[in-house]
This record gives sequence, structure tokens and C-alpha cells, in this order.
Amino acid sequence: MAESLVAEDARYAQLFDVVKEASSHGGDVFGDLTPGMNALRDRYPVMKGSLRELLELPPAPHTMYENERPHYTVLNYALCNRALRENLLFSSEVYEESPGVRQLGKVILKMVGDEHLRYRKMVQPMFIRPRAMTWWRKNWIENSVAALMERLGTMDKADLNLDLCARLPVSIVTQGMGLGGEDALTFRVHLQKSMMARTLPIEEVMQASGEVQRMLKEVISSRRENPQDDVVTELVRCELELEDGSTRPLEDDEIFAYCRLIILAGGGTTWRQLGITLYQLLSNHQLWEACREDRDLVEPAIEEGARWMPTDPVFSRLVKEDVELEGVTIPAGSRLDMCLGAANRDPAVWDNPDVYDIHRPRGDKPHLGFGMGPHRCLGLEVAKQEMVVAINALLDIFPNLRLDAAAPEPQLLGGLEQRGMSAIPVVLK
Ligand code: HEM
Repeated sequence: MAESLVAEDARYAQLFDVVKEASSHGGDVFGDLTPGMNALRDRYPVMKGSLRELLELPPAPHTMYENERPHYTVLNYALCNRALRENLLFSSEVYEESPGVRQLGKVILKMVGDEHLRYRKMVQPMFIRPRAMTWWRKNWIENSVAALMERLGTMDKADLNLDLCARLPVSIVTQGMGLGGEDALTFRVHLQKSMMARTLPIEEVMQASGEVQRMLKEVISSRRENPQDDVVTELVRCELELEDGSTRPLEDDEIFAYCRLIILAGGGTTWRQLGITLYQLLSNHQLWEACREDRDLVEPAIEEGARWMPTDPVFSRLVKEDVELEGVTIPAGSRLDMCLGAANRDPAVWDNPDVYDIHRPRGDKPHLGFGMGPHRCLGLEVAKQEMVVAINALLDIFPNLRLDAAAPEPQLLGGLEQRGMSAIPVVLK
């Protein structure tokens, strides 16, 4: 278990601040933009302009992508689903134009077609549901949740956003990578800085990048000599299938890239999504009690959270050929925003889509909160198990857990980027 998981460390408050995080991307928008997204979708499901422009928000100070391109947005389920699935036409190469993603190295997030398939296929077995429910749970999730519950047990009141949601995922993914002890937070600080090429002086970014490299290099070379039961050891053992059908082990740079992507993709998202779900359950206390009575409702409550309020409401793609969508011609070379926030509330797919309903029958159309198609979240089963174990532990250990009525009312923040709760103040006993 990582010592930093339960340490009193001011870096948690600095690193896991939704306002700071969102405003570094230009998304320091207070309140919920979903009604505006829904209204756009109901007006027309495909429009010219970026989602930000269509919502008439001020331009972001630091845009994610560096190139100016013609910009379009799709907003309903059918079109977002199609754009996510047809990755050769609506290409993930768009991430090449994001300095933050580019510096991660050769990552599957921005690959397409056969290359993506070959790189993803070899790591997929580590992330499938049975592995999440056994390997991830036994090695890292259950211990970490137990340690966090013990810490919460010493408190009368807590902010679950910082005292649980922020701590758990970052610790689990870093431990999974073999970075134990005090390293989890230090690594996170360096990794975040190394991604801030648009806002920090280049020397600071390069120094942080060097630290990330150094810390991972140590783990990789130690696992080459002394295999352990963790993700890096599995990556060292992976055999990449080449185009001619032969195979070769991954090079260090490829392993670095995987580690950086997994740590980055698995930390912030689960923090914010768990917070959104917990707050919804606690602020509708009958839902919280329904989960206590029937634990089979915990996972549907998590899925419903990812449908109702996906932490990242918009993803983009690069359009590779001229294409007509609902009568609108989108020229090759355009950037396409896919508004998953509105697609997940599409009344053509869900009854009463704006209601967070944990009893909702599971239809034949899965929500898009974890993406869809070839790039559908690799770690979604791990994320779900983290949340299932954490919520069940709270239900087991704190029968009187409730929102703290004396604390300022929490807000959903983040606007278009990385939505999450400002806080989740609770009384534990
Ligand atoms: C609730 C938490 C999470 C949410 C909402 C989430 C959401 C997403 C989404 C929407 C994508 C697709 C991006 C795209 O199509 O451009 C994605 C991809 C990815 N996610 Fe997650 N994620 C979560 C947790 C995790 C965790 C815990 C891990 C790792 C342990 C992870 C690893 C990845 C990776 C590696 C990809 C890239 C997959 C590919 O390109 O083939 N995610 N995630």
C-alpha cells in the first residue's frame, strides 16, 4: 500500500482542485452546461462551429489543439456513436495536434486502424472485467479502500472529494505501475507539470518530464531483472505483433508511453466521476439507502452517473474525407467535436434522460461516457471496480453517512472540460 495514500499532504488539495484544473484549460465555467448542450442537440444534431462557440462561451485561454481548422459539432447519440466507431473517417490522429498528448509519446489514444489494434490488443487482457474483479481488486483496490476507510474512521466530518475520490484512483494506478511508497504523489506532480507546455516555462516542463522519465525508467529496469506481479512487469513481457505477423517485445519508450497514458487517463477521470456519482446518491438520500438495501444497485448507479454526467462531455476527431451528416457537408481536414454530454441525454434513446435514475432498465444502447468503438476506455472495468468497492465500503462502515448541511453547498464545476464536484462535505458518524 502506498504511504502517500493516507498521508496528510497538502499536495492533494493543490493537485485535485476542479476549479484550477478546469481553468488551466480555459474551462473555468461554474454551473452545469448540459441544458445548453441539450438545446443545441434539439435544434440540430450537427452544426458548424466548435461546441464552445455554439454555446457562446468566451474563447479558451489555452486551447487543447494548436492548429486552426474548420470546426463542426455533433450532438445526438446516433452521430456521436458513429463518429466514435468510424475511427478511420473520424480519426484520433487529432490528438497529434495536442501538445499535451503529443508529449506522452507513442500512445494508443492517437493511433488508428491496424496499428491501434495491435498495440491495444496486447495490453487488453490486463484490463478485462475478470482481471479488474480479481487482479486489480486483490492487489490494489481493496487494500487502498480499506486504508482510506480506516483514515475516515478517525474523522467526524470529511470532504469525500479530497479524502476519498482524489486519493484512491491516483494511488491505484501508480501502485499498479510499481511506484509505491511516497512516490505516487511526487510522480503525479511531475507528470502534470510535464503536460503543461502551454502554461509553464519550458525549463520547468523539461525538468518535470525528465523526472517522470527517471522514475519510470527505474521501475522498468528493475522489473526486467526482477519481475513482480504488476502492470509494468506485464508490459515488459508483452509481445507486439508486427505487420508481417512476427512479434517483438516492447521497447522502453513504448513502455514509458503506456505508463504515462494509463496513469494520466486513470487518475483524474475516476476521481471526478466517483465524486459526481457519490454526490448524486448522497443528495438524493433515498437512492443512497436503496443502494444500502440492495447492493446490486451500486454498479447501475455508477453506470448511470457516467451516462447522466460524464466527466468529460466533449471529445474531438479529425475528419479525414468529405462526409455528409444529416445534410451538412463536413470537409476533410475539419475538426469534429462530439458532445457526449448531450448524446447521453438523447430522448431518442432514454426515457426522461435528464433524470439520474439508478433503476433505469439497461437498454440495448450503451451510454458514451466511456467512449465507444476502438478507443472505448481501456480502464473502464478497473474504474468501475474502484468505485464499486469504495461505495460499498462507505455503505458498510458508515451507516449514518450524510451530506453536511452546515457546509457550503457543493457545485458541479468544469464546464466543457473535466467536470467534477467542488467538494463533497459529509458527516461520517
Ligand atoms: C470513470 C473513469 C473513466 C472515464 C470516464 C474514462 C473515459 C474514457 C474515454 C471517454 C475514453 C475514450 C477517449 C477517446 O475516444 O478519444 C478513454 C480512453 C482511455 N482510458 Fe479511460 N476513463 C476512465 C478511467 C480510466 C482508467 C481507470 C484507466 C486505466 C487504468 C483508463 C485508461 C484509458 C486508456 C488507456 C484509454 C485510451 C484507449 C484507446 O485509445 O484505445 N481510463 N477513457
